[in-house]
Amino acid sequence: MTQKVLLLPGDGIGPEIAAQAARLLKACQDAGLDIEVEEALVGGSAFDVHGEPLPAETLENAKAASAILLGAVGGPKWDKIEDLSKRPEKGLLGLRKNLGLFGNLRPALLYPQLASASSLKAELVAGLDIMIVRELTGGIYFGQPRGIEERNGERVGFNTYVYSESEIERIGRVAFEMAQKRGKKLCSVDKANVLEVTILWREVMERLAPEYPDVELSHMYVDNAAMQLVRAPKQFDVVVTGNMFGDILSDAAAMLTGSIGMLPSASLNETGQGMYEPCHGSAPDIAGQNIANPLAMMLSVAMMLRYSLNEAGLAERIETAVGNVLDQGLRTADIVQEGEVSVSTVEMGDAVIEAFNALA
Ligand code: IPM
Ligand code: MG
Repeated sequence: MTQKVLLLPGDGIGPEIAAQAARLLKACQDAGLDIEVEEALVGGSAFDVHGEPLPAETLENAKAASAILLGAVGGPKWDKIEDLSKRPEKGLLGLRKNLGLFGNLRPALLYPQLASASSLKAELVAGLDIMIVRELTGGIYFGQPRGIEERNGERVGFNTYVYSESEIERIGRVAFEMAQKRGKKLCSVDKANVLEVTILWREVMERLAPEYPDVELSHMYVDNAAMQLVRAPKQFDVVVTGNMFGDILSDAAAMLTGSIGMLPSASLNETGQGMYEPCHGSAPDIAGQNIANPLAMMLSVAMMLRYSLNEAGLAERIETAVGNVLDQGLRTADIVQEGEVSVSTVEMGDAVIEAFNALA
């Protein structure tokens, strides 16, 4: 059966990297992949046309797709929109919430070719392979009540950090199962010395542990986790944490690998439907210059093939192609080192597709 893939280029560098992903999808189709690719608007570009960041038509399309590939959303052009519900970011958050994409997988994998591009010493990051499992549809991002209101003559801003046992349990299971398939170590990150919601988080993780006797569970406070990530990152295998801590720690972990421009992500719901996107944002400062790194987006195509389309072979072929291109010394501006010449977004796309085809 032909599966539907929805491509959402979004804003900033989104359209440039999405164009490379579209070409890669075409190469996969030529290699026998049975998919149909549609495109729709999300984020600021949707706001400009429809007055909202997640038009009903885009959401319907997304619900009907087996998988969604998203570039990035947001940019200074829309930062002045006062109504937060119309901001580009709401397009992304709305997709996550409406599709129930609670399980966010953010791998931080160091390509050995890029060890010297890391902000840490090469020996601290050589062989780095961390998987951050971030809860994506709950926590303080979505908790009610929230708002800004007048109290005692001044304005007060407030949000609610809330998790139910069932929400913690389902993300916990994703993380334990991930650890079983990897190095069998799971570190749960919380702030249980201060926040009740994460005391419950820790309890639920402990309760699940006996069901996964082969996995070694540990706990860490989030401030310590941030420090350990930059002190000795190789101690981590799988990390599981809530929405906001995961947002922050995954950016730090990404940078250890040389560039956030290298890292893909997957967001899955209970049916295996998924949205795939680079961990980086829309980088408005470099948009339209043909210098953005398309590799995170192209590696997101690989994750999509593996997790939603059941095509592990093609996924590996893309990952190998990316490794081969790095071996050839090709670097976009974000990962270029002294003495190396950088290539453009399109040139990097060309090289990956050529390497992919050569692996046939
Ligand atoms: C991310 C981004 C988003 C988030 C923003 C764009 C809403 O930072 O995917 O990490 O905070 O989740
Ligand atoms: Mg983020």
